Amino acid sequence: MAVEFGTNRGLQAQVGIYTTGNRAPDDVGSAWPDERWPVSPDDWRARAREALDEGPWGYLEGGAGGEETMCANRDAFYRWRLRPRVLRDVSARDISIELLDKRFPAPFLLAPVGVQEIVHPQADLAAARAAAARGIPFVSSTVSSVPLEGIAAAMGEGPRWFQLYPARSREVIASMLRRAQSAGYEALVVTLDTTMLGWRERDLRQGYLPFLEGKGLANYFADPAFRALLGRPPQEDPRAAVETFLSVYVNPGFTWEDLAFCRELWHGPLWLKGITHPDDAIAALDHGADGVIVSNHGGRQLDGAVAALDALPAVATAVAGRVPLLLDGGVRRGADVLKALALGASAVLIGRLYLYGLAAAGEAGVGRVIDNLMADIDLTLGLCGRRSIQEVGRDLVTADGATG
Ligand code: FNR
Ligand code: LAC
Repeated sequence: MAVEFGTNRGLQAQVGIYTTGNRAPDDVGSAWPDERWPVSPDDWRARAREALDEGPWGYLEGGAGGEETMCANRDAFYRWRLRPRVLRDVSARDISIELLDKRFPAPFLLAPVGVQEIVHPQADLAAARAAAARGIPFVSSTVSSVPLEGIAAAMGEGPRWFQLYPARSREVIASMLRRAQSAGYEALVVTLDTTMLGWRERDLRQGYLPFLEGKGLANYFADPAFRALLGRPPQEDPRAAVETFLSVYVNPGFTWEDLAFCRELWHGPLWLKGITHPDDAIAALDHGADGVIVSNHGGRQLDGAVAALDALPAVATAVAGRVPLLLDGGVRRGADVLKALALGASAVLIGRLYLYGLAAAGEAGVGRVIDNLMADIDLTLGLCGRRSIQEVGRDLVTADGATG
């Protein structure tokens, strides 16, 4: 796999798009009204909406409660403005980043997203392949639709991280971490904001929870420690297997002390996802985290919670560069990425945006979303008067357009 670092990929992408009329290949776009690739996040979203039934659509798109936090995630980006600099020779640009001594081609990763089979039959395999082909890290969810070993096999040498929901059973946690390590996952992401499922009104209205249909349980059903909890194998008694899953998969009793157990077992970088309070970021450092992911789960968990971007500056101040920060929630375009980087993130994760691509066009759709976002980041960087991500700092943004 040849991954390019120094680039002018924005221009290359524009030329490719303009000269082909933005036509999607027949095998992808023939069912679409104008056979053109979506470009804007709203185009992608609309195409995904057309592809999905009400239940899966509500699950993918929705947030908790009144979706105020989900909206706040986007609003926060509107409240910051970029302040470009001029006449700085931006003819050659490089959007690659270094994260914990590894180099990646762009300042974003694919966020952990569960139950992808409700969005596309190839599910995680399609998304992971699209990421691997471009050297973009894929964060594989605990509740993936394909066992973590299968995802790893589909990715070749592609960078992959494993996301853990701390289960009620230490045996299941230990077993999954062992499996993830032997399947070549480079980093562990422990998600802390899902001690219980949020009050998701769209899903409640539809009476729709994919887990109850046995979806998103592949890692559990393949896991020897989980299977040891069952009287009979999942294929013989799926209902009992689902019930056992529901009884172990999240753990409201999990504490910082329990985290030490994960830290001991995992021999590699450990990221904690779902932190918005600066004191929790400090606690994360004290408990051996190598990085912090500022996130409110895309507004799917605690409605009314602070927007991810609004939480970032205080976390960045508290952490003071001792570990890298990532951010997710509402990232849709190059300008969003640059704003997050300016406010202290080393990179961002995208969630729904890539799922729209997956729903619309499988692996090719995710690939297109990634390619366009890389192009947009490259052009936005150049238009900001910066040549590399290292040149992005706090002075690139101003709050509410004020320039004092
Ligand atoms: C998620 N997210 C998530 N996070 C996690 O740690 N494990 C998971 O299994 C899932 N599953 C999941 C499913 C779906 C359908 C969505 C939309 C999200 C949260 C995800 O990692 C990320 O935090 C948000 O998606 C970021 O917000 P945006 O980019 O979707 O606005
Ligand atoms: C989500 C996790 C539970 O739906 O998969 O946000």
